[in-house]
Amino acid sequence: MYILGINAYHADASAAIIFNGKLIAAVEEERFTRIKHTAGFPSNAVRYCLQQAGIKIQDVSYVAIPRKRSAQLLRKLFWAVRTPGFAMRRVNVWQKFSSVDEELAIACGVTKADIKAEFHFVEHHVAHAASAFYCSPYLDSAILTLDGLGDFSSMIWGNGLGNKLNVAGRTLFPHSLGLYYSAICQYLGFNNYGDEYKVMGLAPYGKPKYIDTFRNIVHHNKELNYNLDLEYFTHHKSGADISWRAGKPLMPKLFSTALERDLGPPRLPNEPLKAHHYDIASSLQFRLEEIIIGIANELYERTGSNSLCYAGGVAFNCVVNGKILSQTPFENIYIQPAAGDAGLAIGGAAYLYHHSLGNKRSSFVMDHAYWGPEYSEDLIRESLVSSGLDYVEMNDDVLARSVAERISEGDIVGWYQGRSEWGPRALGNRSIVADPRRAEMKDILNSRIKHREDFRPFAPSILEEFTAEWFEQEYHSPFMQMTYQVKQNRVSDIPAPTHVDGSGRLQTVNASNNQKYYKLIKEFHEITGIPVVVNTSFNDNEPIVNTPDEAIASFMRTKMDTLAIGPYFVRRK
Ligand SMILES: [Fe+2]
Repeated sequence: MYILGINAYHADASAAIIFNGKLIAAVEEERFTRIKHTAGFPSNAVRYCLQQAGIKIQDVSYVAIPRKRSAQLLRKLFWAVRTPGFAMRRVNVWQKFSSVDEELAIACGVTKADIKAEFHFVEHHVAHAASAFYCSPYLDSAILTLDGLGDFSSMIWGNGLGNKLNVAGRTLFPHSLGLYYSAICQYLGFNNYGDEYKVMGLAPYGKPKYIDTFRNIVHHNKELNYNLDLEYFTHHKSGADISWRAGKPLMPKLFSTALERDLGPPRLPNEPLKAHHYDIASSLQFRLEEIIIGIANELYERTGSNSLCYAGGVAFNCVVNGKILSQTPFENIYIQPAAGDAGLAIGGAAYLYHHSLGNKRSSFVMDHAYWGPEYSEDLIRESLVSSGLDYVEMNDDVLARSVAERISEGDIVGWYQGRSEWGPRALGNRSIVADPRRAEMKDILNSRIKHREDFRPFAPSILEEFTAEWFEQEYHSPFMQMTYQVKQNRVSDIPAPTHVDGSGRLQTVNASNNQKYYKLIKEFHEITGIPVVVNTSFNDNEPIVNTPDEAIASFMRTKMDTLAIGPYFVRRK
């Protein structure tokens, strides 16, 4: 039984396909359109998933769409009556969803009548929860989702048991921790959809001086709920629907003049960052942590489970994630790599298979992130030949050794291998890799390749077995979703990926989740005694490179020194 999951008409449009409950392929549309967070219909992603499964759309039994019109209907009607323009926006959204079968037919080059699949609509947050639970190794787990808004909710909690997922409570529009974070990001001049992770990186430069104000902005009474003080926001009046232009998602303005009254004028996007802005970012993050840790502790009490499956855009806040493990009794946490809305494609499909259709829990566990497109060695070689670059073919061992030597000599290396990563993090298949021992490497990477804000940290990839020696916490983090403190006596060994507060957003690597990348770091460890490399995504202010042509173009355009693409080694002369 093939089920196609489609996250459409929303940012991070994506598709995923499962066969008898097991994932075969998943990818975000942005990798093909080359527009970050692409919204709209994921035609390219759907075609890739079908191709990877080796089937046609006619072979698909069900299509799962993570959006449900009937969810919170009374609440929607209440706000539609109260707020001008609200009902019209809802109607517009639903007009798009009612023609989803037509768009699917067009994407697949067939007629609507050719598609035999049944269409099922799964509530947004239920799909988030399912994306974590059914990909996790746990048969019994607490469940938490947190995001901006989806189907009028911003949080659900409950538990998963075997093939069933039970929602016990929820927080509804207009209250939202995700919108709280996004609103303050906008106030700080970070206006692009998805900029929240930048502000998370900014927070350690400041002190939570404004925590009293932030405790007024969002209230939490130790229960499994929170409330925004709406005086500080506008979305309850104007709506928080994301629109998009040429695929690029756009957020409406979310904060009100009350924020300016209490914190001063908002920062313009190009204005220099000052201590005041750092302190606001720190206060924002501090308040988020207080509330989520409170919620997680309460959730543990209510469910009694040792494991937590966690999803939604807020689950990308890896600083909070690390603290959930150290400041609550939860012993296990599972966050799949596409914790945000892209992950809904998998969640919708997995929920339909298990919970709705009643199939017994599949043995599938997502323990690696490599579910995207792969290109053959022949195609890679053709791309290299047409680029005019000189290359040498190597076996895996020689390639790992040669690249590790180059990294230890200070080279910046493009590392393009196998299937691309699902989710926003490069995890050793579409990565740029560098020497963590060189303090200047952060600035070099920024000036030569990435051209991004200099306050943002780079991440360490570490051989999993060395985690406890190098970090204060050792719970595995294969999808780079945990931030831990680097051990004090190790900070000077790896200055490049250590943030200003001594933390690192680490990826733990083992031989079973990525053998080639493991081998590379192991070689680097043998040469230098350091089991860590700097890992940043293979891109330059664009979605992560997808095809060999894009990787080679990026290598030639930027100032990378070395490229390891498939079995081919290229050194810039
Ligand atoms: Fe969401």
